[in-house]
Amino acid sequence: MKLIEVKDYQEMSRRAAEFIIEKVRNAHAINLGLATGGTPVGTYQCLVEDHKKNLTSYKNVTTFNLDEYVGLSGKNPNSYRYYMNENLFNHIDIDASHTHIPQGNAEDLEKECIFYEQEIERHGGIDLQVLGIGSNGHIGFNEPGTSFNTGTHIVDLAPSTREANARYFASQEEVPSKAITMGISTILKSKEILLLVSGERKQEALVKLFEGEVDERFPASVLKNHPCVTIIADEAAIPEKVRN
Ligand code: PGA
Repeated sequence: MKLIEVKDYQEMSRRAAEFIIEKVRNAHAINLGLATGGTPVGTYQCLVEDHKKNLTSYKNVTTFNLDEYVGLSGKNPNSYRYYMNENLFNHIDIDASHTHIPQGNAEDLEKECIFYEQEIERHGGIDLQVLGIGSNGHIGFNEPGTSFNTGTHIVDLAPSTREANARYFASQEEVPSKAITMGISTILKSKEILLLVSGERKQEALVKLFEGEVDERFPASVLKNHPCVTIIADEAAIPEKVRN
């Protein structure tokens, strides 16, 4: 894992966007795995600014998002489909039919999981997967204890995750209790991974990631088994012992 240390959230966002733009510009076509949450919002803003200013085109880009809440349609402002449209897709020249997010309100959720996994395969796999990390070490919505062998599946969200995400909902009760997420094995199949980490709230997770064993109780630890991981983390997220 390669660690790039940056000053703050703005610099993390800028560097992450540069990283992605370089890949998009140099590839004839590329499959991007994308994440939601607070962390990548600034990155998406930088991608949009660059698209407007430098005309980076997303016509040959296909995207697969990590996860979606069960029960929410894409029209629900708390759905990740809505988030992606608002933060990125509506502001760049990507073909909407090239953007994939698990359908949280699918009639048959098990079938949706299989379909999603197959769609990724059919498109030739993910070239670059962008990830955030939960303070409990989750990646996507793979909560602690998830087997490393899982593909796209339905999960029960951990109480700490529902609490962390309650800030987007009117109340904590409204946070869905289940989600569809790419599995750890899906994530590990990506050719390259870019993990973004910002803020003091993530310090403990970053220490565990660098100092702990590879262990299903801390899902992000599996990234140590991947050959091509870049981590961009800001000063607030990097404690002294990781820095040295
Ligand atoms: P955050 O979430 O970016 O909102 O901190 C990250 C995650 O839970 O994976």
